[in-house]
Amino acid sequence: MKRPSILLILLSVFLLGSEALAQRPRPTADLPKWEGVCETPQMGWSSWNKFMTDINEDIIKENADALVSLGLADVGYVYVNVDDGWHGERDENGFVTENPEKFPSGMKELGAYIHSKGLKFGIYSDAGDFTCNGCTGSRGHEYQDALIYAMWEVDYLKYDWCHTANLDAKGAYTLMRNAIRKAGRPMVFSICEWGTSKPWEWAADVGHSWRTTHDIGPAFLPVPVSYTAQGRRNWKPQSVMEIIEQNAPLREYAGPGHWNDPDMLEIGNVITVDGITYSMTPSEERAHFTMWCMMAAPLILGNDLRDISEETLAILKNRELIAVDQDPLGIQGLRLRKEGDLQYWFKPLVDGDWAFCILNAGEKPVKVALDWSALEVDDSLSGRKTDFAGTTYIGRDLWNSKARPISTARKNVKVTVPSHDVAVYRLTPVKH
Ligand code: GAL
Repeated sequence: MKRPSILLILLSVFLLGSEALAQRPRPTADLPKWEGVCETPQMGWSSWNKFMTDINEDIIKENADALVSLGLADVGYVYVNVDDGWHGERDENGFVTENPEKFPSGMKELGAYIHSKGLKFGIYSDAGDFTCNGCTGSRGHEYQDALIYAMWEVDYLKYDWCHTANLDAKGAYTLMRNAIRKAGRPMVFSICEWGTSKPWEWAADVGHSWRTTHDIGPAFLPVPVSYTAQGRRNWKPQSVMEIIEQNAPLREYAGPGHWNDPDMLEIGNVITVDGITYSMTPSEERAHFTMWCMMAAPLILGNDLRDISEETLAILKNRELIAVDQDPLGIQGLRLRKEGDLQYWFKPLVDGDWAFCILNAGEKPVKVALDWSALEVDDSLSGRKTDFAGTTYIGRDLWNSKARPISTARKNVKVTVPSHDVAVYRLTPVKH
């Protein structure tokens, strides 16, 4: 028998020795994301837009109570998401704990309370060493964190991207996806890296939604100057119109279980900074809500539900628009055309229906004479086409159910779209 060469022996000793010495845990094989937990865009409430890090268990519980008592849970808003500011330190074994002053009863208890109301429990962390507001991040503790969340019976994780120097986004989010799956409890995984690494190109099998823009603020048009918002210097929030511009071209990437996320809703939210109050008018809020529904966006409320006006509540509870957002086809709407301040949008819906919306970003109301032949849609993404030439569609006004329906059989239907507002219809083909 040929004797092994001295070189081979030395190499084997080196390899075995280094393996034994290093004792490195082997990377776990990739695991799939949880399927079937987010077939339509997620709906719920989050603490961030209104409270930022100024949260505690009473605020969360009272907003959960309000979701139920106001009837918001009945129309689909079921997630109660605790955003940044809940973390305490890690314990001696590296497991994350909650901030004991803000959450004295503990997260498990909070989750149990939320579940007792028939709602679902969401939590927030960050792929880096710290969250965006300096709390404990998950870097290096992903499996431990996912395990703790599962023990707390968490149903939803929003995972942020601050303090992530030298991390690769796809790698970091895939690691957390694996950890969540390994922990054994189905959770929605909401990717929040603001569109920086184009997650729509890689995240369909990593998360259930991905943010496509930086943070929203309660502003319809761009905010002219950076302002200092509740401790954030030079924070320039994105306005509704800027976000629509960034999210519109990404429609081909969205679908059941993997959604574009143009950020949470600012409806009913008011922020005062340096004596200036930022909020939206009822028209702007209607337009914001409508466009999020047209874009099949997650609908996560961002206001204080304990102090809500009838008008805001009515906007948030518009069942017919929620049905547009939650349509089972899961197709993000398309912008057919822009004409000055006007935009024409269509969204294919089940049973041959379409949502049709005219958005007016301008300062003046506009009277439009609809020429249906110029509005035919041939959507290669969904394979759906309108047939205004051969079929009559009846359009129901989704903000005014008492309004007379419009009909595509009539030439030059006249519609007035108020400033910073929408006219939106559900078009249903008349079957003969
Ligand atoms: C941002 C994120 C916000 C909020 C905040 C918390 O990165 O986009 O939605 O979660 O962090 O600090």
